[in-house]
Amino acid sequence: MSYVIGIDLGTSAVKLLLMDRSGKVVQEVSKTYPLIQESHGYSEQDPQAWVEQTVAGLSEMMNHFPGNAEDIEGISFSGQMHGLVLLDDHNEVLRNAILWNDTRTTAQCQEIYDVIGNDRLLEITQNPALEGFTLPKLMWVKEHEPNIYSKAKTFLLPKDYLRYKLTGELHMDYSDASGTLLLDIHTNNWSEDMCQALGIDSDLCPPLIGSYEQTGTVLPEMASITGLSASTRVFAGGADNACGAIGSGILEEGKTLCSIGTSGVVLSYEASHDKEFGGKVHYFNHGAPDAYYTMGVTLAAGYSLSWFKEVFAKEESFEDLLAEVDSVQPGANGLMFTPYISGERTPHADASIRASFIGMDSSHQRKDFVRAVMEGITFSLHESINLFRNNGKKIDTIVSTGGGTKNEHWLQMQADIFNADIVKLSSEQGPGVGAAMLAAYGCGWFDSLKQCADEFLQIEKTFSPIEENVQTYEELFGIYRHVYEQTRELNTQLLPYRK
Ligand code: XUL
Repeated sequence: MSYVIGIDLGTSAVKLLLMDRSGKVVQEVSKTYPLIQESHGYSEQDPQAWVEQTVAGLSEMMNHFPGNAEDIEGISFSGQMHGLVLLDDHNEVLRNAILWNDTRTTAQCQEIYDVIGNDRLLEITQNPALEGFTLPKLMWVKEHEPNIYSKAKTFLLPKDYLRYKLTGELHMDYSDASGTLLLDIHTNNWSEDMCQALGIDSDLCPPLIGSYEQTGTVLPEMASITGLSASTRVFAGGADNACGAIGSGILEEGKTLCSIGTSGVVLSYEASHDKEFGGKVHYFNHGAPDAYYTMGVTLAAGYSLSWFKEVFAKEESFEDLLAEVDSVQPGANGLMFTPYISGERTPHADASIRASFIGMDSSHQRKDFVRAVMEGITFSLHESINLFRNNGKKIDTIVSTGGGTKNEHWLQMQADIFNADIVKLSSEQGPGVGAAMLAAYGCGWFDSLKQCADEFLQIEKTFSPIEENVQTYEELFGIYRHVYEQTRELNTQLLPYRK
């Protein structure tokens, strides 16, 4: 029997999946690590914690693995996107990683627009300048921590650092590189124009590689501490959203994915890099060869629900918190939530906006709040679907993955709000499965990722829209869309009081 491992380096945890040749998940291990939030809008992690917890997870997996370590033929990765890892000339980490959901770089984003201009930026990268992306983070370190910046020799993204520690080789794959704002989407090379204009030394950029390409084997010292074999091949892997797309079979035109993790995304396959979205959605390289995807992002999707639980139901499980949600009618008895607790990306690229509960009534119970939070997150994702539909995309079936699939009422809510069939796959671990599929394809088990998806992925259940709920939600979505404009100015006024 032969196996592959998919390592999904997320924001709250690293999840490891051991899969066999038929696509069966044989073992699953998850290890958490903390966020470091030293100041308002800051979000960092210690790259060492990623490595330690992955090593701990791999060791646990290997302890229970009944076969020979050599039976594990390949390993690949899925990683939280955009996070800046800076290395010195000995490849030692220079500071904590600044993550995708860190919003300190508004001034640097403005500088990018001032220097390069919106049109040229879109021409080179097909993306807007957003606080979460890597280039503004590099500029922030250069400006605020010149001593650290001057020592920097290479920058990596989170999963690239983890892979480096496992193999000793420095690379970045195209799907993650396209989220840095430094990749020229036409030539698939680092953009000298962007680097020069923004004063970034292009030598900091690591060698580029395809997600399914091999980047070495497991280092002997890593093999001995984890129990892996030093002959196991390691493949580059991709951005979590690209891997989520692969792991959900979004491998041809017309396929759409909704993924609710810490952030939430709606993502659509693109065969070319030159469609016109004017920067309203993200446009990134896929992990599949010569393919792309467009994507809208809700910054705090699952995070809004976990924030609510942390503040109001700390001791309870998610199951308990969500237990009564189906006893509340669509519309949460007139209570509405906008999930802007960390700002928003799509359709409002606004790091300062904050969340609201609108319509609180003395009759409301906690279950109304829970339903309102789930609806608000789903409305925010619907904004992205709306953008795609307005651009002529036909969206009638959506594969749903991530934590959001654990609750059937939420899946029905997605069907009703998106007015589309929602498909739940038997494995909801999109990014981890996608990473394992990259290793399986890299090892030559299949001729294409599509062939691998046909073997690995099965539909468990489909949720169809309920007409009456579709009507109600359409009306409510009209109201939801006003909340952003109506609360923007108030939030700006409250900004100085946020500590
Ligand atoms: C995408 C984004 C998030 C992270 C989450 O642009 O910032 O979806 O990839 O890990």
